[in-house]
Amino acid sequence: MRVRQHVNPLSQPFRQPLELPDWRLIYTDPEQPLHLDIGCAKGRFLLTIAHQEPHWNFLGLEIRKPLVEQANHWRIEKGLTNLYFLMAQANYHLSSILASFPPAVLQRVTIQFPDPWFKRKQQKRRVVQPDLVQVIADYLQPGGEVFLQSDVFAVAVAMYGHFREQPQFQTQGEFLSENPLGIPTERELAVLQKGLPVYRFLLKRRADAT
Ligand SMILES: C[S@@+](CC[C@H](N)C(=O)[O-])C[C@H]1O[C@@H](n2cnc3c(N)ncnc32)[C@H](O)[C@@H]1O
Repeated sequence: MRVRQHVNPLSQPFRQPLELPDWRLIYTDPEQPLHLDIGCAKGRFLLTIAHQEPHWNFLGLEIRKPLVEQANHWRIEKGLTNLYFLMAQANYHLSSILASFPPAVLQRVTIQFPDPWFKRKQQKRRVVQPDLVQVIADYLQPGGEVFLQSDVFAVAVAMYGHFREQPQFQTQGEFLSENPLGIPTERELAVLQKGLPVYRFLLKRRADAT
């Protein structure tokens, strides 16, 4: 299967409204705490963590359809009923996706090695933008966590900066040397195998800011 390495997330086909599944038919218990992974690719990370944490639900968003199909195929093979992969353009669809869940379930968000879009003209294609951070702030529960990582220093600092600009988020120290979740993504494994650095940040949703 040949999968395009990058798609332009701002192109017209990704602007179509999503048809959302009935979460009661997906998750055994849709009221469990929800962990959202944005840009999950083939879902290696989620397939592992969903197996380890049965009392959480996991949702992976990915813009490239063949990757979502492959990930859902592996999810079904593993019989995981606390995990789902959805084809979505997070910048356009996140708000309607989160509104379709039971209230107050979102407890953790991960954005790991997002596409860097190095050229200045293309940086508006980066997934972490102020509007996306606002949607996460609106839905993430007090004390809920956001974990960010990238191997590109400028991308890591830029996405961290967008979260820090929102008063709802409190930083948990500066760079983390270890991954607090302990499960590497596909991209993380490739970077670590080359001996290259990874820049990681953890933030918490404050209880006292609306
Ligand atoms: C560099 S890969 C990293 C994948 C995975 N998180 C990892 O660490 O191995 C970034 C992924 O984000 C997806 N992506 C990029 N923009 C997106 C968007 N706006 N919404 C959803 N997924 C997106 C890409 O298709 C790609 O699979």
